Amino acid sequence: MSVRRIALLGATGSIGRQAIEVVERSPELELCALASGSADLAALAAEHAVVHTQVGGDLTELLDASEPDVVLNAVVGFAGVGATLWALEHGVTLALANKESLVAAGALALAARERGGGLLLPVDSEHSALFQCLEGRAAGSVDSLVLTASGGPFRGRTRADLAEIGVDEALAHPTWSMGPKITVDSATLANKGLELIEAHFLFGIPYERIEVVVHPSSIVHSLVRFCDGAALAHLGYPDMAVPISFALTYPDRAATDVPQLDLASGLTLEFSAPDLETFPLLALARRAGELGGTYPCVFNAANEVAVAAFLDGRLPFLGIEEIVEEALAEADGSPARSLAELVEADAAARRLAEQGVPVAVGVGSTEPPRAEVPALPAPERK
Ligand SMILES: NC(=O)c1ccc[n+]([C@@H]2O[C@H](COP(=O)([O-])OP(=O)(O)OC[C@H]3O[C@@H](n4cnc5c(N)ncnc54)[C@H](OP(=O)(O)O)[C@@H]3O)[C@@H](O)[C@H]2O)c1
Repeated sequence: MSVRRIALLGATGSIGRQAIEVVERSPELELCALASGSADLAALAAEHAVVHTQVGGDLTELLDASEPDVVLNAVVGFAGVGATLWALEHGVTLALANKESLVAAGALALAARERGGGLLLPVDSEHSALFQCLEGRAAGSVDSLVLTASGGPFRGRTRADLAEIGVDEALAHPTWSMGPKITVDSATLANKGLELIEAHFLFGIPYERIEVVVHPSSIVHSLVRFCDGAALAHLGYPDMAVPISFALTYPDRAATDVPQLDLASGLTLEFSAPDLETFPLLALARRAGELGGTYPCVFNAANEVAVAAFLDGRLPFLGIEEIVEEALAEADGSPARSLAELVEADAAARRLAEQGVPVAVGVGSTEPPRAEVPALPAPERK
């Protein structure tokens, strides 16, 4: 393959740093643009002879200037929306780690992809797995998708246990080493909720045909069930180098440092249903997805605000779900017809969520908040 020029957005983050290692291994990949939120990029740019860099601001200016072959969007949060839409609109291959952009802007993103006609390659390990299991299969042969979830660090805990959780415990993920926001999302299962909505938009499968199962060892990255009773799964040790490398070298595959699965060493694969009562954000995300419109954007915005407040010590762990629940119940959820309307829906949801965050609290609460599902309107089946 000819040399691919990659715009790496979120270059200083967990995915960004692993992506740089993947690029360094391959003579066919080079960096042409780097972006961060606030971290200085001068040393990284000098090391990789990158001319185009940007710290914060409108990332589409960087993309216009650098004309990449591939945009690897590894920004965290809604800040990645503009870059996702830019790549899809311009028909430039989008390697997407920034799931929040597809969750918040799903309908706009699909319309932009339709117009741009480029590739959308998921970097999230579950979605990369699904993409690979689905590739070349007729849509009519697919029965359902199964997203696997590690269950996070608090699998098996009770609501009373969760009321006492502090930031350090929430940041200690059992199988994946990731940035702080996604690590907290994994602990609340909001991450799996975001992934459920991401899978719906990526693969065009209705929510009732996307299942989530808990699989603590994270060896099976996801599965597709087919109409004949067969299921295809994607297996490997949990390491983001694999889906990053797959997206950057697609349709080829390049060697990574990840060891081959050692099946003879007594590998056991366990699966169970998620505990939706203890971790209600997964069910809330499903409801938001089924409701459609800007409800997924509201879910995402409120979750971002709540997770930031938790990480700042302004909100207890169980306060995260309360903030999201209340924002969803109060938002009107009307569809966004443009990026400007989506940005307004996101901002309005953030204002709602901020109102629910106490000015200052300790990180543990003695009274676990209620876990019922909020009074949302009934979803319209499409
Ligand atoms: N980590 C994983 O294993 C993993 C797996 C699957 C999916 N993902 C997804 O990948 C994305 C990144 O996750 P991460 O774990 O790598 O997060 P992270 O370690 O927190 O890194 C986030 C990156 O985004 C940059 N950033 C933040 N705001 C920005 C802005 N306004 N403009 C430009 N860049 C900005 C940060 O720059 P600064 O350094 O300056 O703050 C940093 O480079 C998330 O959407 C996450 O859900 C991650």
